Amino acid sequence: MTHTLNLFDIEQHALQVLSSNAREYYLGGAADEITLRANVSAFQHIFLRPRILADVAERSLQTSVLEQSWTMPIGIAPTAMQKLAHPEGEHATLKAAQKLGVPMICSTTATVAIEDLMHAQKGANTWFQVYVYKDREATRELVQRARDAGCTAIVLTADTPYLGKREREARSGFHLPPDMELPNYRGLGIGAMNVSEGKEASGLAQHFSQNIDPALCWSDIDWLAAQTALPLVVKGVLRADDAIMAWKHGAKGVIVSNHGGRQLDTAIPSIHALPAITDAVGEVIDVMLDGGIRRGTDVLKALALGAKAVFLGRPVLYGLAWQGEQGVERVLEIVREEFDLAMALCGIKSVKDIHPDILALPHQH
Ligand code: FNR
Ligand code: LAC
Repeated sequence: MTHTLNLFDIEQHALQVLSSNAREYYLGGAADEITLRANVSAFQHIFLRPRILADVAERSLQTSVLEQSWTMPIGIAPTAMQKLAHPEGEHATLKAAQKLGVPMICSTTATVAIEDLMHAQKGANTWFQVYVYKDREATRELVQRARDAGCTAIVLTADTPYLGKREREARSGFHLPPDMELPNYRGLGIGAMNVSEGKEASGLAQHFSQNIDPALCWSDIDWLAAQTALPLVVKGVLRADDAIMAWKHGAKGVIVSNHGGRQLDTAIPSIHALPAITDAVGEVIDVMLDGGIRRGTDVLKALALGAKAVFLGRPVLYGLAWQGEQGVERVLEIVREEFDLAMALCGIKSVKDIHPDILALPHQH
């Protein structure tokens, strides 16, 4: 009998149904995939010191991030091209997110236009992820469109001046199938075309090197923040000094992330980068994290180290590939149940009571 008890089971189900083109793109990381694996294993090497007899009969997972109310401190990270996983693509993901009361960060490189997505799912909490293109006017227009469509935050992905060295994508000649498009680029003069042409390099790598501005620097963040009244979040921060710069240049939040191990291989695992960043800016902006969250205990550990919330990347894609909207829902439910149980077993009743003293530092065990 096939069980679906945890996110690893769902990953296995997904690997049965994904095309090889999508599978290599989704599961891969950069170069030797050391950071990809370390993101997960780093959590496994942190131990907990549970408190007993703390009356945990009633618990609440509710929290607030960027002054928004979330049912739990877990959201959906931006991942590109979700129709590769399921015909309903981003629509299915957003429906599941809305049902569970958590936000979805929609990628610019989505297979559904942001307007259509928001129109179909009124009232859903959606953040829009952008890159800064060489064409600043196109960038400005995208940010404007996201706001007009009803998005509630802008997430700038800052770790991608070039796409990482993804050998799986190159080997499999990753491309967008001819019946899919990247409609957020419609009318902007940004070449989405070459994503369909995986030849020597992956189509996506070519698309990035043609369109994304590798000259981006902190003054551009001032510019971007000035383009919108929405809160700006900088994603891809791994250093405290960069987190301080993000704050000083107008960001209301940062996402500690190494892009799921897809950009610089051997970059520090996200959870190891987190403590210095929450020490530096945790009091003034919201620090969030993605990368390697696979268990409820991972969520608890990130929050104990000062994160306000975490985001799931690949597990959502796997849920989507497996069973569409219901698959994503199941992923979110499993993490919610595991996180809730982990809190209870640690003697914690609410998210605000999660404290670093539940972590066993190496000299304590
Ligand atoms: C991503 N990620 C990503 N990030 C981003 O800012 N814009 C994007 O379009 C994408 N696209 C994307 C596609 C795929 C297939 C993956 C796996 C990842 C990175 C993503 O937001 C996040 O940082 C990681 O996926 C988090 O790590 P886990 O949860 O996958 O371990
Ligand atoms: C990726 C890009 C699109 O990770 O962010 O594939």
